[in-house]
Amino acid sequence: MVKQEIQDSINAQINAEIYSAYLYMSMSTWFENEGLPGFAHWMRLQAIEEMYHAARFSEHLVDRGGRVLLTAIEGPPQEWNSTLEAVEATLAHEEYVTDRINKMMDLAIKLSDHAAVQMLGWFVAEQVEEEASAGAIIDQLKLACEAKGALLMLDKELGSRPMPTPPPDVNL
Ligand code: FEO
Repeated sequence: MVKQEIQDSINAQINAEIYSAYLYMSMSTWFENEGLPGFAHWMRLQAIEEMYHAARFSEHLVDRGGRVLLTAIEGPPQEWNSTLEAVEATLAHEEYVTDRINKMMDLAIKLSDHAAVQMLGWFVAEQVEEEASAGAIIDQLKLACEAKGALLMLDKELGSRPMPTPPPDVNL
């Protein structure tokens, strides 16, 4: 049976993952309005990936006899001043999520919850990837200096992002 502190931290993280999905859905529609369908596509898939993360945490709790308790999701921002600002906000949000995951790992280690440590190890690696992909887009945007041609090429590239695969233990 999962300990109460771990259950509480996982439930809080499920809320944070669904908020992430909500944030990226908001960015996706903003990019649509900006005439950047590739960025919009990339963000829409990012939102799906966040729901996969929420599902993985949820499965872990259910498998261990815990109780998933869903709570209200805060409304995300709806406007950004530029493409670069939106992607920088993505990276800042991912850094915040990384910090949360690291604190969850600290708790799991402190409580000798080996199953949670193993599950969280996947998320530690995932966060490296999440920060790297947002960082790479920022680098490319800075190189493009908002030049229309370069921005459109990057938009096309982001539009080819494939559908994410579900994480381990998530059966769809
Ligand atoms: Fe679920 Fe983008 O971290």
